[in-house]
Amino acid sequence: MKKFYITTPIYYVNAEPHIGSSYTTIIGDILARYKRMMGYDVFYLTGTDEHGQKIAQAAKERGVEPQQLCDELAQKFKELWKELEITNDYFIRTTDEHHMKTVQFFVSKMMENGDIYKGTYEGWYCVPCETYWNEDELEHSEDGKHLCPSCKREVQLIREENYFFKLSKYNEPLLKHFKENPDFVEPDFRRNEMLKILESGLKDLSITRTTLKWGIPMPNDPEHVIYVWVDALINYVSAIGYPDNMETFNKWWPADVHLIGKEINRFHSLIWPAMLMSVGLPLPKKIFAHGWLTVNGQKISKSLGNAIDPREYVKKYGNDVVRYYLVRDIVFGKDGDFSEENLVKRLNSDLANDYGNLLHRTLAMIVKHFDGQIPGIGELEELDKKLLENYEKTKQTYIELMDRYRITEALEVLWQFIGDLNKYFDEAKPWILAKEGNKGRLGTVLSLVTESIFKVATLVSCVMPNSSREIYSRLSISEAFSEKFLEGWNILKGNKVVHGEPLFKKIEKTEKEVQKLQKSNKQGDKPMEKQENVVSQAENVVSLEELIDIDYFKKVDLRVAKIISAEKVEKSEKLLKLQIDLGELGTRQIVAGIAQFYKPEELVGRLIVVVANLKPAKLMGIESKGMLLAAKKNDKLTLLTVASEIEPGAKIS
Ligand code: MSP
Repeated sequence: MKKFYITTPIYYVNAEPHIGSSYTTIIGDILARYKRMMGYDVFYLTGTDEHGQKIAQAAKERGVEPQQLCDELAQKFKELWKELEITNDYFIRTTDEHHMKTVQFFVSKMMENGDIYKGTYEGWYCVPCETYWNEDELEHSEDGKHLCPSCKREVQLIREENYFFKLSKYNEPLLKHFKENPDFVEPDFRRNEMLKILESGLKDLSITRTTLKWGIPMPNDPEHVIYVWVDALINYVSAIGYPDNMETFNKWWPADVHLIGKEINRFHSLIWPAMLMSVGLPLPKKIFAHGWLTVNGQKISKSLGNAIDPREYVKKYGNDVVRYYLVRDIVFGKDGDFSEENLVKRLNSDLANDYGNLLHRTLAMIVKHFDGQIPGIGELEELDKKLLENYEKTKQTYIELMDRYRITEALEVLWQFIGDLNKYFDEAKPWILAKEGNKGRLGTVLSLVTESIFKVATLVSCVMPNSSREIYSRLSISEAFSEKFLEGWNILKGNKVVHGEPLFKKIEKTEKEVQKLQKSNKQGDKPMEKQENVVSQAENVVSLEELIDIDYFKKVDLRVAKIISAEKVEKSEKLLKLQIDLGELGTRQIVAGIAQFYKPEELVGRLIVVVANLKPAKLMGIESKGMLLAAKKNDKLTLLTVASEIEPGAKIS
């Protein structure tokens, strides 16, 4: 049987889970369910990271023993995953006996292989991130404090006698692995970040602490406890039996994908692979680093005080809607603002209007004209054949995208098909067929739509298991979601249907709710004056809707880019082809209609403003990935440029 091993990061138990930690877990769940539906034997792992200074400190602040804090909070994570219907196959805790033994075994092996030595660490440490930083990596506050470049909090200067891991020894092997496996780390801009670090050279890593007791003792020297990240990363192998149960271990390892947030990429893409190389184990097949859920552009996190409890939304809208929103509206891989208003928009339009309503209309007609029994697909007309072809293409693309973890795009393709199904319904005009008494044709049209919805429900069951199960049950299918239902037609012929309530209920925004949404948008938001204006106009919902809110604007990814080269597009008077440097987003080609205003040579080196997340387009057959901004009036045009020097790729907001 095909196997699939997928993991989430294990979560720190210093605070309760919030929507940010739920995000990775929900996505892991979607991929695990998807693979199960496709016939894979799946192992989905999540758990909690319970050692280290951060947890020790949190316990001290609460006046409890660290173990007690861990027990309480691990339980909270487990409960939330249950409420969110997460189908993890195992929940690992790093205070588990077996895990602790495995960590000691693993570290001993690294030592036997000559990869660990004793030295003194003097440098900076960020407790919230449990990360060592070099001086030149730090940021600084206005009053001169040294800040962590990841979480922006103050770092500590520490000096300790430590054991070190010879990470530098694996610099070359890692580079080789990256080159030979171009998809090892995704998305590619995250891979490039890792490559840059490798190209500038890895330093050895301190892997023990002596000033801390809350950790796993170093096997040969128990005065030292093992660095929490080394301890934590080993969970991916200890959870599947390493080294005591090699049969199970060999069944699952290497992991097919480690899902992680972007801030912990180097631990997973550089340190973890080097540790595995050191003990001679194969590397995971892929590391996929996603972006952050933000509120007003700021990472959602407990310590920033902007945490959102997913339960609130699940209670209000149901699990399916929250899951759909998170992966459809927030592009998987990128940062995205969590907004209740957008969630409601997705619910009303994609789910209630396009999907649920189509099912509702179709089943109502089957009940009325065929006594609730699916009549079956008869002779096909041109329109029907096109629909079948469309489905085949959609299914194939959806599967390809899901297999590459492009969940947002996969859903986009599926909803395009749902849109086409609605068009098919309108063009085939079943209500006229019914009026004319053309039962044969009516039966074919209604059956085709029903079977198509059944297939959509199967494909999307990983994202919205409850509504898909409901659709299965309304169509008298009691079996589990399965890829077998994606093939062939007339599967449902003769089945009884249940019409039932609409699958998704539209939320009609009341004035009060609009005001509430505005209020929540306002919290901590900068342009106060604008917001207050908007609220004072709130009596008129329509005019409000015509304005865009800050979340909407933030969807446009504006960046500074440096023009590397420019040339004329052959046979075009207007177009120039530019190669631009977008910093962390890499190098891109864009085509711009500015040839009448600028000579190619005067553009090179300029810092311009670009919309970086525009869908690619072809202009005169040449691909353009993004758009530059320019101001135009009458027949004058001027490029928007950046006045003072700033790194290409800088975000504009
Ligand atoms: N314990 C480490 C991971 C060790 S894995 C061997 C850790 N824990 S964490 O609790 O701080 O974060 C775990 C993960 O939670 C992040 O990598 C990220 O996947 C997720 N998120 C936490 N806040 C998030 C957002 N606001 N948005 C999206 N994901 C976020 O790091």
